[in-house]
Amino acid sequence: MTIQICVPREVRKSEQRVALVPDIVKRLAAKEGLELNIESGAGELAGYTDSDYENATIIASDSELLSKADICLTVNPATIEQIDQLKDGSVLIGYLNPHSDLERFTRLKQKNISAFSMELIPRISRAQAMDALSSQASIAGYKAVLLASNILGKFFPMLTTAAGTIRPSKVLIIGAGVAGLQAIATARRLGAIVEAYDVRPAVKEQVESLGAKFVDIEIKADGSGGYARELTDEETQQQQAILAKHVAAADVIVSTAAIPGRPSPLIISTEMVEGMRGGSVIVDLAAEGGGNCELTKIDETVLHKGVKIYGPTNVPSMVGNHASELYSKNLLNFLELLVPQSSINVDLEDEIIRASLITHGGEILHAGIKEQIEGAS
Ligand SMILES: NC(=O)c1ccc[n+]([C@@H]2O[C@H](COP(=O)([O-])OP(=O)(O)OC[C@H]3O[C@@H](n4cnc5c(N)ncnc54)[C@H](O)[C@@H]3O)[C@@H](O)[C@H]2O)c1
Repeated sequence: MTIQICVPREVRKSEQRVALVPDIVKRLAAKEGLELNIESGAGELAGYTDSDYENATIIASDSELLSKADICLTVNPATIEQIDQLKDGSVLIGYLNPHSDLERFTRLKQKNISAFSMELIPRISRAQAMDALSSQASIAGYKAVLLASNILGKFFPMLTTAAGTIRPSKVLIIGAGVAGLQAIATARRLGAIVEAYDVRPAVKEQVESLGAKFVDIEIKADGSGGYARELTDEETQQQQAILAKHVAAADVIVSTAAIPGRPSPLIISTEMVEGMRGGSVIVDLAAEGGGNCELTKIDETVLHKGVKIYGPTNVPSMVGNHASELYSKNLLNFLELLVPQSSINVDLEDEIIRASLITHGGEILHAGIKEQIEGAS
């Protein structure tokens, strides 16, 4: 039996990514038993025309495409309208934003759809090539530095000119996970002096290997699975007291501190912002989870006593071509696990499949979502 893999146009406003790029479509189409279908215009904002998808059937209407799909691939969470058009018993793979809009999961359950959330792929070695959170966070870290440089009224590098010497900008990266490390590398490439801070002491070496100075606050907050744990109130105060002088010295701060499933840790208080020089910039990548800075507003640039605080969301979409390329590769690797030999194999014994599967067989398998839905009814 042929498996129809379908990629709709993304419906999120201003989204520039597409779930599959032509190169990956070609690789999938070469496999026995798979047919590829792309909605007309799906790749346009990522830089691909319909005719670039030589190995796929281009379908003009979203309803025709979705109702044909055995496997539907998206970047952004499928909407209720999209879910309603999918076939009963089909497979949906994409970001699913598991902590909001719970009605979607009831609908997926009712339609017996096997829904995989790319955010829930575990960060284990075997899953690295499928880890979309990491591929996209790395892009966000890179772009955050460029966004900061765009609104900063200064150069990043030291410049010696006939009119005098310009001192290099000082950049502080808060949170040295995937996004933070790429932000460090990018700020260094632009010639800034970079400091970075994280509550996991294990990242000190990585920070230093990228040419940045590690700010040591002597709080060790390793949690489980290589992630940080939340700080106590006392530790937060200690952190803020020591970090304040580094914040005050920075021309640019890129903050990326996060703990999975928890609101963003609040690290930069209003008082700390008021200690910064006028013209300084904070780009808060953690805005969507509440922000690392007290003054962050989602997708706005707040001007507070001369300091600009920007909380952009959907940053990977701003680098739509490469973000799509990496995301497509993540999906390809995931599909190799899910469709090993021309048939869909939902192996519940597989750690990666099990962790990312939210609904399957008419049930909600994700314990947290199930609890929330049952608690609300
Ligand atoms: N705005 C966007 O478009 C966009 C895109 C991608 C990722 N993000 C966000 O960027 C953030 C980072 O993503 P990531 O994939 O790099 O996560 P990550 O888990 O790899 O890194 C987060 C880091 O924050 C550190 N941290 C936790 N609490 C801290 C604290 N109190 N002080 C200092 N460091 C602390 C952790 O130790 C970890 O190293 C997340 O909030 C994510 O949602 C935003």
